[in-house]
Amino acid sequence: MAAPKVAVVGAGVIGLSTALCIAETCPSCSVTVLSEQSSPNTTSDVAAGMLIPHTYPGTPIHVQKQWFKETFAYLFAISNSAEASEAGIHLVSGWQVFKNTPKEELPFWSDVVLGFRPMSKAELQKFPQHRFGQAFTTLKCDCPPYLLWLEKRLKATGVQMYTRKVADLWELHSEYNVVVNCAGIGARQLVGDEKLFPIRGQVLKVHAPWVKNFIRDGDGLTYIYPGIHRVTLGGTREKESWSLSPDAGTTKDIFDRCCALEPSLRGARDIEVKVGLRPSRQCVRLQREVLSQGGVQLPVVHNYGHGAGGFSVHRGTAKEAARLVGECIAALQGSSSRAKL
Ligand SMILES: Cc1cc2nc3c(=O)[nH]c(=O)nc-3n(C[C@H](O)[C@H](O)[C@H](O)COP(=O)(O)OP(=O)(O)OC[C@H]3O[C@@H](n4cnc5c(N)ncnc54)[C@H](O)[C@@H]3O)c2cc1C
Ligand SMILES: *[C@@H]1O[C@H](CO)[C@@H](O)[C@H](O)[C@H]1NC(C)=O
Repeated sequence: MAAPKVAVVGAGVIGLSTALCIAETCPSCSVTVLSEQSSPNTTSDVAAGMLIPHTYPGTPIHVQKQWFKETFAYLFAISNSAEASEAGIHLVSGWQVFKNTPKEELPFWSDVVLGFRPMSKAELQKFPQHRFGQAFTTLKCDCPPYLLWLEKRLKATGVQMYTRKVADLWELHSEYNVVVNCAGIGARQLVGDEKLFPIRGQVLKVHAPWVKNFIRDGDGLTYIYPGIHRVTLGGTREKESWSLSPDAGTTKDIFDRCCALEPSLRGARDIEVKVGLRPSRQCVRLQREVLSQGGVQLPVVHNYGHGAGGFSVHRGTAKEAARLVGECIAALQGSSSRAKL
């Protein structure tokens, strides 16, 4: 078989990182990214980009932990290189606070982030309404710069990117040998997955450069995540809401909740409001499937449904998707060499 042609549908963090892993693990592959929208117009551009895993109830914990570990190690190396500022990756320390001690005092990811420990009494004095907390250092992606950095890496490895809405994966069968589905919430329509649903999230990006530590309310929805230039204030989790327009009442509510946690935010300026739809599912769909029509086959690898935690696991799931693409190619090469005999 000549250079296998691989199409990746989607240019959010999952599509771009998956295309990069495929290009890295299969240098003979010709990889193309097809997407309806790209940065700055994807859900991934709206995300806060904090590396704090969300738990997928349908995926074994050791698998989720492995995905998170691989992602953390990959971004940690970038944060420690000359690329860090362009890629928008940095370490950030802070606190997750609770009104009462949580059932699970040690989350599964506590030994992946750095310096995880219970907060001291002195630290807790900053949070008079909270009685327990965890301090740690993690990584954060400034999302639009990180997506642009991934695009630049892709172009440098010869990956082509085109704007194209794909109505049906089958329409790609005559042009590509393998198709990878990284369409995020778009997969609901693209492959008719009714288990995939949106969880709407609204956030504010503000100018408050004196806020250096992250703060997350472990019992609720409120968080304050400082990035390189802006601080992200969140958030909301609205199941099955498809609205992409900001809601003014929600903006005020988020701002008030964040000020209750960090009163200095009353002085924040330049409030910008963003909305995104988290592609939510019981578990990430990361698997091979073979589509066939009239004796013609098209191998597909799905990698979507990362919900509230796509940034936290993207490199781990991209590596697994690239491994599955390798299996598809090996299967194609096996059948084409048998056909020659
Ligand atoms: C407010 C908010 C805050 C968040 N904060 C965090 C956080 O701090 N940490 C974290 O880990 N995660 C966070 N997330 C979650 C994270 O944003 C998602 O898990 C992640 O962005 C999903 O990436 P994706 O590439 O699958 O989807 P997307 O970014 O939506 O990309 C999907 C791509 O597929 C394309 N596409 C879809 N359908 C088609 C089609 N038919 N044809 C062609 N192209 C198509 C789209 O145009 C797009 O390019 C947050 C999400 C929100 C909304
Ligand atoms: C993002 O969306 C805006 C508004 O629809 C559009 O003008 C712009 O070209 C889009 N950017 C990209 C990179 O697709």
